[in-house]
Amino acid sequence: MRLHIVTIFPEMFPAPLGAGIVGRAQEAGLAAVHVHDLRDFAHDRRRTTDDSPFGGGPGMVMRPEPLYEAVESLQLPEGSPVVALTPQGAPFRQADAERLAAEPVVTLLCGRYDGVDERVVAGLATERLSIGDYVLTGGELAAMVVVDAVVRLLPGALGHAEEAIADDSFTSGLLQYPQYTRPADYRGMSVPEVLLSGDHAAIDRWRRNQALRRTLELRPDLLAQATLSDEDRKELRRLGWSEN
Ligand code: ADE
Repeated sequence: MRLHIVTIFPEMFPAPLGAGIVGRAQEAGLAAVHVHDLRDFAHDRRRTTDDSPFGGGPGMVMRPEPLYEAVESLQLPEGSPVVALTPQGAPFRQADAERLAAEPVVTLLCGRYDGVDERVVAGLATERLSIGDYVLTGGELAAMVVVDAVVRLLPGALGHAEEAIADDSFTSGLLQYPQYTRPADYRGMSVPEVLLSGDHAAIDRWRRNQALRRTLELRPDLLAQATLSDEDRKELRRLGWSEN
């Protein structure tokens, strides 16, 4: 998969995207991340990409021409997603990561200043995504979040841990169950007995129930969308859940 990032701060990207699973996926040829300097598409000698807003007011707005010309230079395939990262976007969810991971080419546009000319949204971006209800200084960190969440889903990216995707928080619609490793006792806190039992059916049921319990406690909003068996519902009711 190819990922294009358009930004006025290309220097922000190499370290976060060069390390760990995302770095390894690039070395293995599973993902190619291309970072493009928006200033290369500016029209003046000072490489300006912003201007003051029509109608007045504080702050600066990103001009449309460099963004349009940067994206046109990529010669994207027809229908390829062009995502504008902005706090006004739809919330970025695991389902979006899965959808984007299935695309051969994805382009991410990083906004800066106090916004981006609305004609970029109207005629260039195919969608807007936000990574949360807070305002960052720009879309760069949000683009890194999207790349990370997408690249780890590419077949082969996680290596041995591939099955882990099914147990991820959100993939299943529930938060992940608690995990433990050695030592079995640490500072008076011991690992739940069942995990040491070798009884895999019992371990699966315990993990499922823990995922249900944790989701009910911390993110009850997720339960409405989760795929639940009759047994899951029974357990949730036992824990005090009332559907609706
Ligand atoms: N740019 C600034 N804040 C953002 C956010 N929360 N998500 C995506 N892009 C942003």
